[in-house]
Amino acid sequence: MCIVQAICRDTFCLLFVASKNGAWSKSDIRSFPKGFMFGVSTSAYQIEGGCYEDGKGLSIWDIASHTKPSPIDDGSTGDITVDSYHLYKRDISMLKDLGVDFYRFSISWTRILPNGFSNYVNSAGLRYYNHLINDLLKNGITPFVTMYHWDLPYELHKLGGWTNPVTVDWFVDYANILFESLGDRVKFWITINEPKEICHEGYGSDMKAPFLNMSGIAEYICAKNVLLAHAKVYHLYDEEYRTQQQGSIGIALNAKWFEPASDTIDDHQAAIDARQFDWGLYAHPIFSKEGDYPTQVKNNVYAKSVEQGYAQSRLPELSAAEIAIIRGTSDFFGLNSFTTVLTYRDASLDGMFPVPSFRDDMGAVLTNDPSWPRSHSPWLQEVPWGFRKLLLEINKLYDNPPVYILANGWSSKRGLLDEDRIQYMRNYLIALLDAVKLGCNIKAYAAWTLMDSFEWLRGYTEKFGLYEVDFHSPDKTTTPRKSAFIYKEIIRSKKLDPNYEPEQYYEEKEIYRKESQEEGRVKN
Ligand SMILES: *[C@@H]1O[C@H](CO)[C@@H](O)[C@H](O)[C@H]1NC(C)=O
Repeated sequence: MCIVQAICRDTFCLLFVASKNGAWSKSDIRSFPKGFMFGVSTSAYQIEGGCYEDGKGLSIWDIASHTKPSPIDDGSTGDITVDSYHLYKRDISMLKDLGVDFYRFSISWTRILPNGFSNYVNSAGLRYYNHLINDLLKNGITPFVTMYHWDLPYELHKLGGWTNPVTVDWFVDYANILFESLGDRVKFWITINEPKEICHEGYGSDMKAPFLNMSGIAEYICAKNVLLAHAKVYHLYDEEYRTQQQGSIGIALNAKWFEPASDTIDDHQAAIDARQFDWGLYAHPIFSKEGDYPTQVKNNVYAKSVEQGYAQSRLPELSAAEIAIIRGTSDFFGLNSFTTVLTYRDASLDGMFPVPSFRDDMGAVLTNDPSWPRSHSPWLQEVPWGFRKLLLEINKLYDNPPVYILANGWSSKRGLLDEDRIQYMRNYLIALLDAVKLGCNIKAYAAWTLMDSFEWLRGYTEKFGLYEVDFHSPDKTTTPRKSAFIYKEIIRSKKLDPNYEPEQYYEEKEIYRKESQEEGRVKN
């Protein structure tokens, strides 16, 4: 109980501490709810390689990683990465060893439709995913399939990509082919992974391909198209496939928790605004009762647009018909969440952001607490209570939807002894269980990610894997980190024992130590 009190700041926490059954101690063994599903997540461009094989077309990430000078920190590409296009059986044996219930992976649009359009279907591409899905099912692992994880066909990009409303229809055509050819076996679909990262990072900034960097304009056009693309695919499934295929379909949103930096009303409002701009922009149209963008977001962007001399809001309106099309189109709330940031308002910082821009529209300053444990990624700190608050907020705002955690993980240094990742995973799972205890309907958890892979602009410099990869070896050898053994035991027992130490791992650790000593000797 003291632990909770010490790290909590507002009414949610006070409630939690006061609740009769809410107290826990760090040494308690805690159980997951009946039917809770465990998995791991990956995405196509990050793991597949085989970028020029068997008729695959080029995506914006193939183009980005081959741009000169390279925008990737280590100048690397996803041409080969962990070579899952050839080594998917290795992936399945790792999944089997972990004992996961499901495997979340994404399909490369251009492997199926090389130019993005559905007039030509590349049968070799379909064959690959058929093999993968069939082998997963043979091994008792449920495929959880993302249709779009950022690798937009380059041909569609040339036509404006997600800023072109016609892309909505092309995405529906692509989805139709996936339902038709894979939907007899795939029972969990994610339409789009992380709209904010697509729209804000890819179109509103230069953090992700296609680096459009038109903040305050492009991300809002993209948001509307991505939401409509998602919603239309949902309706397609509902109308043409659901009765027969009996699956479920949703979207995966990435959400941070934004914590007010102080107790002032201003900082509270700044945090609320940041949440609404960061993920409410996508969640509210789908999951709220009334639909549409959050009122605060519409008002802020409208007022600023007028002030800046635009004839209309830079956030294109949703018509009544569009609001109705988008509302209610997700069977579950797919949530990717990694971290928390502090939020405050500071009028003296007016003009700190370019005009127009998303950050200027948001009007909140973001910072962090240096005392929170840091990962190897500058944006990622361990703040489990923030995760719990986020889950409670989603429960409150959207009437307790079923939530699937579809990505949560930590980047560590090289090496197999990843105590920091283990601590992060345990503390986030404890936060998840606390949220369940307080009434949240959380049904699944997927760790990000199975093995080290291509981390977008960070290349191979950030390691998120439960398995370490030797990228210099021809067969991309994978070795379980200590966290893999911990996760395996959580999955096996459906329990979280904070004191569990894997016996098997210690043997491996001995080998690891000997190797390091030998290395030392060679140097001496
Ligand atoms: C993106 O836009 C920002 C702000 O306008 C600017 O500072 C930055 O240099 C731009 N990046 C690129 C790659 O053009």
